[in-house]
Amino acid sequence: MILITGAGGYIGSHVNKLMFEEGYQTIALDNLLNGHEDLIKWGKFVLGDLKDIKLLNFVFKKYDIDTVVHLAALTSVNESVQFPAKYYKNNFQYTLNLLNIMEKFNVGKFIFSSTASVYGEPDSIPISEKHPLKPVNPYGKSKLMVENLLSERSKNSDFNYVCLRYFNACGADLSAEIGENHDPETHLIPIALNVALNKLEKITIYGGDYPTPDGTCIRDYIHVHDIATAHLKGLEFLDENKSDVFNLGIGRGFSVKEIIKSCREVTGYEIPTVVENRREGDPAILIADNKKAKKNLKWKAEINDINSMIKTAYNYQKKL
Ligand code: UFG
Repeated sequence: MILITGAGGYIGSHVNKLMFEEGYQTIALDNLLNGHEDLIKWGKFVLGDLKDIKLLNFVFKKYDIDTVVHLAALTSVNESVQFPAKYYKNNFQYTLNLLNIMEKFNVGKFIFSSTASVYGEPDSIPISEKHPLKPVNPYGKSKLMVENLLSERSKNSDFNYVCLRYFNACGADLSAEIGENHDPETHLIPIALNVALNKLEKITIYGGDYPTPDGTCIRDYIHVHDIATAHLKGLEFLDENKSDVFNLGIGRGFSVKEIIKSCREVTGYEIPTVVENRREGDPAILIADNKKAKKNLKWKAEINDINSMIKTAYNYQKKL
């Protein structure tokens, strides 16, 4: 069985759904602090926290777990700057709890949600996995600490891992049954769509003076379904007793203004904007070099058209 931590979250719920539909038996573990129970419709659900060692013992004793897919984490860059200890505790210390319990129960396969934030301000674009790792905020640093631990842990042992460094996750399941629902919402696409849906008056563009063609930040937006399929590929990779780290992006960037333009095209609404100061810690451009994932993980993004990605997000936002 596969234990999926954070299965009530945005990406976790898509991973849980896909794995379950592909015939895997899944156990969804979530404390529902940021996750949503109505996103957990597949497999078994355990309400709980990774700080609860007793619960972890109970879960590993009760279920025949052979793989852990670990998505549970705090993910706000801004919050991590304000409350660094909270991020090291949740993202690093609680992962350590999970790795310890896996060791105790001889579970040796691990898929970890990492992030493009581990690269910090990039020296070169596109960013390959060989790019120096110099995160600039506690969020990225806490994820890198886990990556380093995994690399050490896998040496001379039968423990194997796949680290997936997500670039900008977006979109929603094609059925619009599950999707992105953060509180508070800080991400560009859901905010722009909420303006279109009249839930917000306008969207703030954080910085119009970046060294990019239109002055706004460029990001590599990857559809959440394609992120989920990479986890399936991760399971196959682990079956070959290998460990590695992969970027997940489509290898193409869109500026904030281009994204808002797409949101206008998809929704047919105007979406008023106002340009304000840069948000702290936002690199100008993040674009993935995804060659390694294509070659070694045998993964390929299926949804490459930005309007198609945004359309799926819109279908879900309309339902909220
Ligand atoms: N932005 C705005 N206005 C908004 C919201 C966002 O202009 O109201 C801009 C941001 O400044 C940034 C871009 O839109 O330039 C994308 O911002 P998001 O908040 O949607 O996403 P981030 O790039 O900040 O971060 C996301 C994840 C991180 C992950 C990172 C990896 O939230 O966890 O992608 O690229 F590390």
